[in-house]
Amino acid sequence: MVKIINLKKKFGNFVVLDGVNLEIKENSLTFIMGQSGAGKSVLLKHIVGLLKPDSGEIWFEDKNIVKLSEKELQKIRRKIGFLFQEGALFDSMTVEENVAFPLKEHLKLKKKDVEKKVEELLSAVNLLDARKKYPSELSGGMKKRAALARTLALNPKVVLFDEPTTGLDPILQHTILELIADLKEKYNLTCIIISHDLPLALKFADEIAFLYQGKIIETGPPEEILKSSHPFIKRFVETALINDKGGEL
Ligand SMILES: Nc1ncnc2c1ncn2[C@@H]1O[C@H](COP(=O)(O)OP(=O)(O)O)[C@@H](O)[C@H]1O
Ligand SMILES: [Mg+2]
Repeated sequence: MVKIINLKKKFGNFVVLDGVNLEIKENSLTFIMGQSGAGKSVLLKHIVGLLKPDSGEIWFEDKNIVKLSEKELQKIRRKIGFLFQEGALFDSMTVEENVAFPLKEHLKLKKKDVEKKVEELLSAVNLLDARKKYPSELSGGMKKRAALARTLALNPKVVLFDEPTTGLDPILQHTILELIADLKEKYNLTCIIISHDLPLALKFADEIAFLYQGKIIETGPPEEILKSSHPFIKRFVETALINDKGGEL
């Protein structure tokens, strides 16, 4: 679905990505993990074409998006949903207006079809009751769900999430990931989630990829990550599981 080959990116002399290789399987829920500052957000911005690499390839379906013109990239971007850390809802619009916005703006749907789709999406994220509310009236979890509904409005194939659970309490973190996992099945999505929360990744991921010193040092399903012999991952796992006293591992 998405294949990244030898991706390199420097800011000035500061190397952030130093030859990233990663293949994301179709209809998978893949977690990209790493320490703060490891370059996770930078990697995600490359996948959606917001940053250009110094070298390397990013294949989406049959196209290397690094080589595309801005116009061709626009078409691909429609198929890639991106959920920013802050959700980025329009504050002056209600929840339903936020979700309707891409449907009117990009898909040019008729009023009746917009209403139908908005209702379907808000129901999928359990937010029908809050359809008339403004973002300032919503809790953190509700904002995430509204942003998710808006992202799904354009029928993306791949959805990228930058730290979707950061700042939420543990119960809400689970609720949001359960929702993402359900929506993945319902809409046949490929989900790429950035996180530094290992217990959540172990519970929800199909695949986990570790970004460390500019490279993906390990990928695999949770049970393989737990068995990794890489010293950094071993330390990451030990620390995370000690801190997660409420976890079930
Ligand atoms: N546009 C930019 N210009 C310069 N440095 C950047 C830029 N974006 C990110 N960086 C640097 O790249 C490193 C990785 O950042 P980021 O991908 O945001 O880390 P994280 O893994 O926490 O998401 C950081 O040191 C950050 O300061
Ligand atoms: Mg980040």
